[in-house]
Amino acid sequence: MKQKSPPSESSSEPALITGASSGIGLHLAREFARHGHPVILVAPVQSEIDEVAAAIRADFEVPAHAFAQDLREEQAVEKLFEQITTTGLLPGILVNNAGLGRRGRFWEIPLVEDLSMIRLNIEAVVRLTKRTLPILLERGRGRVLNTASVAGFEPGPLFAVYHATKAFVLSFSESLATELADTPVTVTALCPGPVDTDFFPKADMIDTGAFQKAQVLAPQEVAEAGYKALMAGERVVVPGLANKALAFSRRVLPEAAQAKINEKLYERTGPDERKRERGDVEAQAEAETRRGS
Ligand SMILES: NC(=O)c1ccc[n+]([C@@H]2O[C@H](COP(=O)([O-])OP(=O)(O)OC[C@H]3O[C@@H](n4cnc5c(N)ncnc54)[C@H](OP(=O)(O)O)[C@@H]3O)[C@@H](O)[C@H]2O)c1
Repeated sequence: MKQKSPPSESSSEPALITGASSGIGLHLAREFARHGHPVILVAPVQSEIDEVAAAIRADFEVPAHAFAQDLREEQAVEKLFEQITTTGLLPGILVNNAGLGRRGRFWEIPLVEDLSMIRLNIEAVVRLTKRTLPILLERGRGRVLNTASVAGFEPGPLFAVYHATKAFVLSFSESLATELADTPVTVTALCPGPVDTDFFPKADMIDTGAFQKAQVLAPQEVAEAGYKALMAGERVVVPGLANKALAFSRRVLPEAAQAKINEKLYERTGPDERKRERGDVEAQAEAETRRGS
């Protein structure tokens, strides 16, 4: 069934979205397409990103291009822009979404994994934004959405490097939003709490309090909130009422107390506390959408 919405004034702007083969990025890509934007999708595995692009073309009738890049590589952004030239599209919206996490005590995680996370979560965001912003400024319009996290507001023992990378993304986004305040370009930081995506199994965190005890949102809901905030030019968006309240209350707590709460959240839960599996929340949201359409 076609789900295309009537195009709005800025829905013709092509959106370049990283990490679009799964989770929040995949649903962001579908959300942009649903509003009529051509999409340029990036992820490491060509066959996976091709599949997402094909589904978007079939469901929403917008151009969807798919390019495989490992954004941790130094030349990836330049190679990506060479690939984008072949589409005849110029991105008017940049979505820096690709990212990963790794749970564990800092001194037990191999250095190469920390550095790999820093290259993707921080360095690739800086490189891609540096390459894209001049294009947006020259065209006199454009938007940037950076997927940070509520983790960016506070320290995260047992998830230390990840929290620090998201603090970078949040701070970077807010600074740019102010630098760009007198220009037609906006920057929005998307700060989700726990979301039902492959992030949790990849980070070895399915059996932690963060996935089993906290409120877990569907990636569809997060993508919808991110798109809406981006188009409204908001600086920071925390999807979900409970997350908003939590992010605010945590921000006024002393940092040592925030750190203690998060350490507890990242501890492993027992088998009797296991109440959800990866995919439960996402599938439920999918079923609700189908019932509503
Ligand atoms: N899930 C949460 O609870 C949560 C909460 C707050 C913020 N976030 C943030 O949301 C963003 C998206 O994560 P997600 O939850 O949607 O997880 P996800 O389903 O694992 O999606 C991550 C995406 O990034 C891609 N990616 C990984 N390494 C890459 C690389 N080297 N180069 C290019 N792309 C790469 C992945 O492709 P492959 O699958 O091929 O690796 C995938 O498309 C991340 O920045 C994450 O930190 C997640």
